[in-house]
Amino acid sequence: MALPQEFLQELKARCNIEDVISGYVSLKRAGSNLVGCCPFHSERTPSFTVFRNAENFYCFGCGAGGDVITFVMKMENVDYMTAIEHLAARAGLTVPDDGRSTPKVNKDRYFEMNKLAARFFYDSLIDPKNAHAFSYITKRGLTPQTIKRFGIGYADTSWDSLTGYLMSKGFDKEELRQGFLAGVSQKTGNLFDYFRNRIMFPIFDLSGNVIAFGGRIIGEGEPKYLNSSDTPVFKKSRNLYALNHAKNNTDSSLILCEGYMDVVALQQAGFINAVATLGTALTSEQTRIISRYAQTVYLCYDSDEAGQRATKRAIDMLGEVGLKVKVVKVEGAKDPDEYIKKYGKSSFDKLLHASDGHIEYALASISSKYDLTVPEQKLSFVNDSCAMLSGVYSEIEREIFIQKISEKSGISSDIIRTEVKKRQKKNSEKAKKDSIKEQINKSIGYGDRINIDSAKNLSTVKKEENLLGLLYIRPEFLNASELLGILSEDIFQCEFTKKVFREMMKDTGFSGEAFTPEEMGRITEMSIKRRELANNSLDVALELATALKEEADRKKRDSEGDFFKRIEELKKSKK
Ligand code: UTP
Ligand code: MN
Repeated sequence: MALPQEFLQELKARCNIEDVISGYVSLKRAGSNLVGCCPFHSERTPSFTVFRNAENFYCFGCGAGGDVITFVMKMENVDYMTAIEHLAARAGLTVPDDGRSTPKVNKDRYFEMNKLAARFFYDSLIDPKNAHAFSYITKRGLTPQTIKRFGIGYADTSWDSLTGYLMSKGFDKEELRQGFLAGVSQKTGNLFDYFRNRIMFPIFDLSGNVIAFGGRIIGEGEPKYLNSSDTPVFKKSRNLYALNHAKNNTDSSLILCEGYMDVVALQQAGFINAVATLGTALTSEQTRIISRYAQTVYLCYDSDEAGQRATKRAIDMLGEVGLKVKVVKVEGAKDPDEYIKKYGKSSFDKLLHASDGHIEYALASISSKYDLTVPEQKLSFVNDSCAMLSGVYSEIEREIFIQKISEKSGISSDIIRTEVKKRQKKNSEKAKKDSIKEQINKSIGYGDRINIDSAKNLSTVKKEENLLGLLYIRPEFLNASELLGILSEDIFQCEFTKKVFREMMKDTGFSGEAFTPEEMGRITEMSIKRRELANNSLDVALELATALKEEADRKKRDSEGDFFKRIEELKKSKK
């Protein structure tokens, strides 16, 4: 059963699409619409448009689109009902019981369970019988205050101490399993604790709930760190370690590291803006979260090759959401944790201040590859540097580094400037070619993942989408007597367009719940294309529907013809 239309209308009225989207995207007026840079793909010229009258949005660059609910689904990466709840909470509305059979997960139960687990681990760590664990962590330089501040704990060597404790507190097998605290033994069917003999780092959300754990083994063993998988209250790609502390920093910068210990050591030394990803490479969801709390990111990954590769990748990703990136190289140590221990906090502070911008970093890593006293290698240096600079957007920045390359290589800045320009031109030609290729593929329906039938008959699909777009903006046509007997599901040839039509015809009204955000983008595109046309009369709908019906009838006749022909042939062959 779907949510009542009255409720959805009330929700949309109270959560004005312009207000909601402005919370994430900076919008500018353009006629009666609003435009901004799309939060769903990276762009520098705005093609993301909010249609205030139609109460929807559409990005002409990437095809994302839909209503305010779709926007929240995409932005927060949540399902339909969670997006509704999010908006309802904002509007002060209660979501009516939608009568679903599956009970909703009770997040509070998981928060409570995790909180108890974190306390249990903390108590174990300070329990004298686990003195070896406490001495491990203090030997690594953490003070009792830091241990408390981060809620660091110890999971002992037993296979069921946590499970037993949580069960005694009323949590069941399924909750422990789903919350990634215990697994079920295949042999006996009994629960066993996942985290054993590990230093435990609870992960908090921004409201202070414990949502997950990372556990480092004491001594050697595999895996070195065990992290919670995604659970009903945790998605690792959407969270950052210690952001709950770091978000309170005042200078709108964050230090991004690789490990839990790096963050804890840096924060203990007073760098309270240190955060880390959670055992995964940086995700685009994380970069978006970072951009809400910072303007500058100090990238402070491990000094090994893997760390430096991850740095290059992170520079691009952080740049895409408009963050200023500085690269901190912890030379003489394997990671920030070791650096602080070896050289102290004032050295790290100096390192932060002397850190290079990302272009400088790129230039330094190019020049480290070559010996500039050898002419051939000097040439390679200049070539690589020009290629790198041709991807830099700001002309001022380009100009600064053209001078630097010139100084380093002894080649005149005019020549270097010309070379960079040449490469820029090549880049933009290539981008244009790629985009034309994509357009052609799109126009022949190739690789259409939303309407997978579209390659079958493109001109029919165009008509179908045209008609649906029109019916979407003029739903009253669905009941027009002129269309009676013409308009039906059978006139549509594709599964997708059939489904859109079926949803429109529902008594309860069209609901976005039946569609993925990507499908909502397509439906929005249909309506926007139609809205841009001046003539949206009933006559047009009639014309399109009639043409589609004729086509469908003809198809039906043909296949029936085929059928009778086959029967005739069969009869003949039997004779
Ligand atoms: P590192 O191997 O650099 O560990 O992994 P570390 O932070 O320096 O830890 P210590 O100092 O040896 O205790 C960096 C991060 O990568 C993730 C963890 O988030 C870790 O903090 N990681 C590493 C895993 O998730 N699993 C692993 O097995 C190893
Ligand atoms: Mn490390």
